[in-house]
Amino acid sequence: MKKHLVVLTGAGISAESGIKTFRDADGLWEGHDVMEVATPEGFLANPTLVLEFYNQRRRQLFEVEPNSAHYDLAALENEFKVSIITQNVDDLHERAGSSDVTHLHGELLKSRSIINDEEFYDCKMDINLGDVCPKGHQLRPHIVWFGEAVPMIEKAAEVCETADILLIIGTSMQVYPAAGLIHYVPKDIPIYFIDPKPSMQSKGNLNVIAESATVGMRKVISLITS
Ligand code: APR
Repeated sequence: MKKHLVVLTGAGISAESGIKTFRDADGLWEGHDVMEVATPEGFLANPTLVLEFYNQRRRQLFEVEPNSAHYDLAALENEFKVSIITQNVDDLHERAGSSDVTHLHGELLKSRSIINDEEFYDCKMDINLGDVCPKGHQLRPHIVWFGEAVPMIEKAAEVCETADILLIIGTSMQVYPAAGLIHYVPKDIPIYFIDPKPSMQSKGNLNVIAESATVGMRKVISLITS
């Protein structure tokens, strides 16, 4: 039986594809205060700005491609049962060919109405004020904003409980509950953490690889494959 490789990814894995991470030096996300564009309060205060912000993120998505770290993860399915849990709202894991991807923080290519957070619609175009779902309610991006519940977290925790290896790539591990998933994997399984500016140090079963995602993946592959 294949070993179960659970992978937790953050913005850093998509950085080499050209998508900016959140916590860059200036504390802004593409020039915006995160509270302005990624909270329900921000949306209430200025829905046009928030919709346009995510419209830009969605348009950018069509201009970027998966990088070798995304492709390496997809290829690992030949040897492992790979479950990816991502904090990213892009679709680069899916485009690279990964078959089991759980999005903790939503997906840019889906929308939902402002009153129903359980029904999703495919969304490849801009969302504008006045665009409504089939039931007549304003659409918003399917993004889990700060202060909102993270519905997929329970499923993700269950996935972690059956891990044989945990691989963490490109996340500041600052945002909960996602960062807390590391506590759900069985005690003493090998944990690899790839990040050029890692927020944790190697200790016990935790092996920190201070590299970019693409370089770090090559190293991890040589460590975990036969
Ligand atoms: N390869 C790997 N990691 C990288 C690279 C790279 N080329 N470049 C940067 N990084 C790392 C940074 O060192 C940092 O640790 O990626 C991490 C990005 O951290 P954040 O910007 O905080 O992104 P993330 O951890 O995914 O944020 C979590 O916060 O804003 C919310 O909902 C949003 O999902 C997001 C969540």
